[in-house]
Amino acid sequence: MTSQTLREARKYEEASEKMIKKEERPDFHLSVRTGWMNDPNGFSYYKGHYHMFYQYYPYDTKWGPMHWGHAVSKDLLHWEYLPAALAPDEAYDRDGCFSGSAVELPDGRQLLMYTGVVSTPRWNGGHCETQTQCIAVGDGVDYEKYDCNPVLDGKDLPQGFSREDFRDPKMWKDADGKYWCVIGNRPADGSGQILLFSSEDAFRWKYEKVLVENQNRVGKMWECPDFFELDDKWVLLTSPQDMLPKDFEFHNGNGTLCLIGEYDSQTLTFTERNQQSIDYGIDFYAPQTVMTPDGRRVMIGWMQNWDTCMPHSPYQKWFGQMSLPRELSVKNGRLYQKPIKELEDMRKNKVAYPDVVLENDTIHLEKVQGRKIDMEISIRPGDPESGYRKFAVRFAQNEEYQTSLSFRPYESVLKIDRKFSGSRRALIHQRRCKVNSREKELKLRIILDRFSVEVFINDGEQVMSATFFTDMAADGISFFADGKVRMDVVKYDLD
Ligand code: FRU
Repeated sequence: MTSQTLREARKYEEASEKMIKKEERPDFHLSVRTGWMNDPNGFSYYKGHYHMFYQYYPYDTKWGPMHWGHAVSKDLLHWEYLPAALAPDEAYDRDGCFSGSAVELPDGRQLLMYTGVVSTPRWNGGHCETQTQCIAVGDGVDYEKYDCNPVLDGKDLPQGFSREDFRDPKMWKDADGKYWCVIGNRPADGSGQILLFSSEDAFRWKYEKVLVENQNRVGKMWECPDFFELDDKWVLLTSPQDMLPKDFEFHNGNGTLCLIGEYDSQTLTFTERNQQSIDYGIDFYAPQTVMTPDGRRVMIGWMQNWDTCMPHSPYQKWFGQMSLPRELSVKNGRLYQKPIKELEDMRKNKVAYPDVVLENDTIHLEKVQGRKIDMEISIRPGDPESGYRKFAVRFAQNEEYQTSLSFRPYESVLKIDRKFSGSRRALIHQRRCKVNSREKELKLRIILDRFSVEVFINDGEQVMSATFFTDMAADGISFFADGKVRMDVVKYDLD
């Protein structure tokens, strides 16, 4: 039975979606149907479609009581909205249906597990939240909340583990048909930890152990975990809150963390070997992965971040978009990301400029422009002996606006700067990323989709993502060198 709250949300989204023109949204990135979007949820392949649910407040472009929005796609680039899947309409989730995941049951139904939130006023002011894990089962469009919800609550946790910060279940099914789940939590010291649970039927869950402890190493609470095998390693993704910066690897505030190591599935022991950020740009958080039918591990993140959300004008009709789907791999203990190969089918109008020499100058290249593009640039010193001081590429550019990437080879630092993108707020506009020393050659693949840029550095060794809300009339691209640079540029429109 669909509740009144869900029926209202479905009616509202259908009507207000019509007020948003296609050109006012990203083209091949999933954006919110109407209102506000945060984390990807329930990312899955089910009955011939990819399903993406998301943290959703349809009624405003700000965060509010969380619903689950829903969209489906055949190729992860062209999305179709379905009616909202969940609304906060039960006593155990009345203040929000927070993040979660999806698995397919043996009988062909899809099971969603999400965090139900109840907020109660404290006697001395403020609120106290209780977070529990809840289930809904459905057919890919309509989902029924389970009668025995919540399926995991404070009673299932060891003493001292937080009941307030207990959220974001990510499930998977192993080769023997057993279900597993990782959930974010805090131990008594207020740091973060990832808990492991198991189930025979995906309905009755059992606490197993602490899979990973933060011990105040990277931020505090760890949100939105994901855990999977990849290239003979195991990868744990999570999004830490309240981080302190560490060199160029981690920045202040909310960020992303990838731990790579080994997992002993007998003793349920994860041995960490390497750690890194997932994305080195400004806007990326809470990613989730799916396994494609042909065996690729694909990740999508919320292409925003709590600390850097651009305040938006009351006239804006939507806020929140997802990142590109990225194929993951592990090489030499590092996570590599590249845009899913389906994006290449959208490439049109190739233009190529091999070996362009650029010396103390700014240039434009004919037909190299646009706001929906896929552009590969490789940059080398003009004279191998002398090197160069700085290279920059500017895009979404006209007389008034621009966003830029600049590289100083002597520091090996690539900087993204959206200060001149049209923002009227003093929030974070720049971020630096230390790339593997590339005095010989730096390779960038830059993808623009109207209001965002994603930069895949050196074949996906690092990625930087950022959004900007620049007037669409700014579609120029220019290249600048301080010193002498040689570059190859290949550019496609994406359509
Ligand atoms: C992460 C997060 C999750 C939570 C959701 C609420 O962005 O804080 O931990 O489930 O957002 O919308």
